[in-house]
Amino acid sequence: MPELAILGGKPARTKPFGSSAIIDHDEWNYLKKVLERREISRFMGSPTKDIDSLLVMPSLEAENYEKGYFSFLGGRMVRKFEADFAGKFSVKYAISVNSATSGLSVALGAAGIGPGDEVITTCMSFNATAASILLFNSIPVFVDVSTKNFCMDPEKVAKAITPKTKAILVVHLLGNPADMDAILKIARKNNLVVVEDCAQAPGVKYKGRNVGTIGDLGVFSFQETKNIMTGEGGMIITNDKELAKRSRLIRNHGESIPDKTWDEEDLVNLVGMNFRMTELTAALGIAQLKKLDSHNRMRINNAAILTRGLKGLPGITLPELVPGAVPHIFAMLYNEEATGVERSKILASLRAEGIPVGSGYLRTMYENPIFAKRIAYGKDKCPWSCHLYGAERKYQQGDCPVAEGLLRKRFIWFYHFHKPNGASDMKDVIAAFRKVFGNLEVLKKKKVNAEIGYKW
Ligand SMILES: Cc1ncc(COP(=O)(O)O)c(C=O)c1O
Repeated sequence: MPELAILGGKPARTKPFGSSAIIDHDEWNYLKKVLERREISRFMGSPTKDIDSLLVMPSLEAENYEKGYFSFLGGRMVRKFEADFAGKFSVKYAISVNSATSGLSVALGAAGIGPGDEVITTCMSFNATAASILLFNSIPVFVDVSTKNFCMDPEKVAKAITPKTKAILVVHLLGNPADMDAILKIARKNNLVVVEDCAQAPGVKYKGRNVGTIGDLGVFSFQETKNIMTGEGGMIITNDKELAKRSRLIRNHGESIPDKTWDEEDLVNLVGMNFRMTELTAALGIAQLKKLDSHNRMRINNAAILTRGLKGLPGITLPELVPGAVPHIFAMLYNEEATGVERSKILASLRAEGIPVGSGYLRTMYENPIFAKRIAYGKDKCPWSCHLYGAERKYQQGDCPVAEGLLRKRFIWFYHFHKPNGASDMKDVIAAFRKVFGNLEVLKKKKVNAEIGYKW
């Protein structure tokens, strides 16, 4: 067995993995068009005479509205990207935003979720999922995950319902669809809004339906590491006219539109934000959206190569491809007891071999000090101390043992199985894993400098 790189041997791979920012002539052409037109944003955040019809205009119609002018709905590229997205996902409305984080807040705000309301979400996701709940002063309630798909466990959701629960924010984590039948059943029974966080799941299907179209609103991310990317950016989708209208208002200085004829109820959560997407970002998005299916196919193919090649490694459980899933992260489970070697040593050894791997999120979201100490807005525990809430909500270690166990001891995550990385790159990954796992006896005895977290 060749000597491990961490102990001075030659690494299995020295070549960096290819970036997920796949750019070809299509992106260049759309970007060029934006620069030639000198229309870099074209959003306008003030009322016009046709604002009432604009606010509810389906995205496919809005694409051809008032070509070339400033608009409350944005410039030509923004409206084309939204129309293309709405077409691809067969929904009436697609509302672009500058990130999925903004999109999640907009979605909850549009649904009228606000101070005193509880939103049930998974405890294991990127922190933006939980932070988005705080924007309109609502209270996140975290539930544990299922080991089947690493998404929220519906049984835990049912148990977390209180009279204050108003919404479920479900995350399709790692490209696995969450158990939407069970979640929708709970939501219907309790009259709850369902927002789907699809940041890691564009094109993922649940029982043949696109995730993001099953709940009331779906939110996607185009941040650089996602399946398709625009650097930063996000999209909200919905078939509901009222939710679309309110999403468009919150994205674009909403407070400037209503006049005194609007009901008080309509003004809820319409505090003006600027979450708009630029024409440059939308231009990238138009070109990227055309690549979504082929990007997803590559992830599925590479994941299959990894699954075949890594079979039988001691202490490793490989991810099972759930029907409809498009793996966003190749998430393996490691069992220290089976090998006698700490996970941190395995991670450090793989990194030294040239394979950037991670241990998953550093902690559950509720273990972040902002939640653990309940200090978000100011120092006086807002929004938890809001008189409209009037309940006690604490977060502490041990709340969600399944997720804590996965993150602290079990996950090994690998990201770079996306385009342009192909079969020969996956061969290197497999070779590096086999080398490290073939040296477990050596690793057991040696001290290595090991860190958790992720190394790109
Ligand atoms: C599950 C999940 N939700 C939300 C986000 C936030 O996305 P964005 O970076 O576009 O704000 C991410 C990004 O990593 C994510 O993975």
